[in-house]
Amino acid sequence: MITLEEIRKPVTAELAAFDEFVERQFTAEGELLSDMLRYALSSRGKGIRPLLVILSAAMNASVKGAAGGRRTSLAAMLVEMIHVASLIHDDVIDEADTRRGRPSVNARWQSHKAVILGDYVLAKNMNIGLQSGQFDLVTHVCGSMAALCEGEVLQDECAAERSMTLKTYLEIIHKKTASLLGVAASVGALAVGATRDRVATMRRFGESLGMAFQIQDDILDYTPSAQTGKPACNDLREGKITLPLLAVLEHASEELRADLLGRLARCREDDAAVESLRRTVEEEGGLAAAATAMQGYITRAVEMLADYEESDYRSALVNLCAFIAERDR
Ligand code: FPP
Ligand code: MG
Repeated sequence: MITLEEIRKPVTAELAAFDEFVERQFTAEGELLSDMLRYALSSRGKGIRPLLVILSAAMNASVKGAAGGRRTSLAAMLVEMIHVASLIHDDVIDEADTRRGRPSVNARWQSHKAVILGDYVLAKNMNIGLQSGQFDLVTHVCGSMAALCEGEVLQDECAAERSMTLKTYLEIIHKKTASLLGVAASVGALAVGATRDRVATMRRFGESLGMAFQIQDDILDYTPSAQTGKPACNDLREGKITLPLLAVLEHASEELRADLLGRLARCREDDAAVESLRRTVEEEGGLAAAATAMQGYITRAVEMLADYEESDYRSALVNLCAFIAERDR
């Protein structure tokens, strides 16, 4: 399986410049806020979003090396910090105790402080962006923040009602995940002065990749062996109907449907209901159906790169698509 280390190779210098940029710009006032910020930034996960910004910038740059500049680092920071803030808030909403195998910010410092930290990250991000004077980049990423909130609220409503349709599921994952990956890929192109057409193509590429990314995330949630650093079947415990269960519900008889929804209603406090629902989803082909849908988005993403000439950066983006599809964490 292709590794992220290999995918990062062609942009090692640009990633180092990005890390240094964040280290220099993203500091906090006061000991508590500094501690919390350092904690949140010290485990940023796979770093898919900054990698996507930088690879897109490198592939779209007309001059080799142009992607290593300040605009690319700034673009990557704007996207990554929206993601960081959204996860800090998401863990408060989901009452999650862990994130990436260690205590979430809310578990370590309580929810009210986590809310403030998420707000602080967003505020600081916008300040740095606006003070840089690169208004085109700030404007480009800003719209995605509202989309994230809309996706989260829609997801919450559906979980409370334990209802879902395919159309609504696709809208939720587009808003909560694909929109920001679309912005990541397109803002990289914008940062190096690519044409409007290319910026739009990169947005579509990132959105398709993002749809695949979230479907894979939803599949991994069902897989107890996955190295995600999260407890298995969290979504079922939270009442969330994601694509694996939805695919089964869509073809189920009235009787099976009522039985599945009944079991879902018990998942919050009943581990046996979680395990039996997980097994049924697997046996009825829900995971396989979700994997097929995920592959469809991956294929679409790779097709978006067809007009780009062969380069290490283009290959890395194709490999990133394969990594997203095959990842187990
Ligand atoms: C993770 O989903 C959460 C998101 C992708 C988005 C969360 C968005 C908000 C909380 C809205 C706030 C927005 C901003 C800009 C601060 P998940 O719960 O399915 O994944 P998980 O298993 O990793 O928690
Ligand atoms: Mg969550």
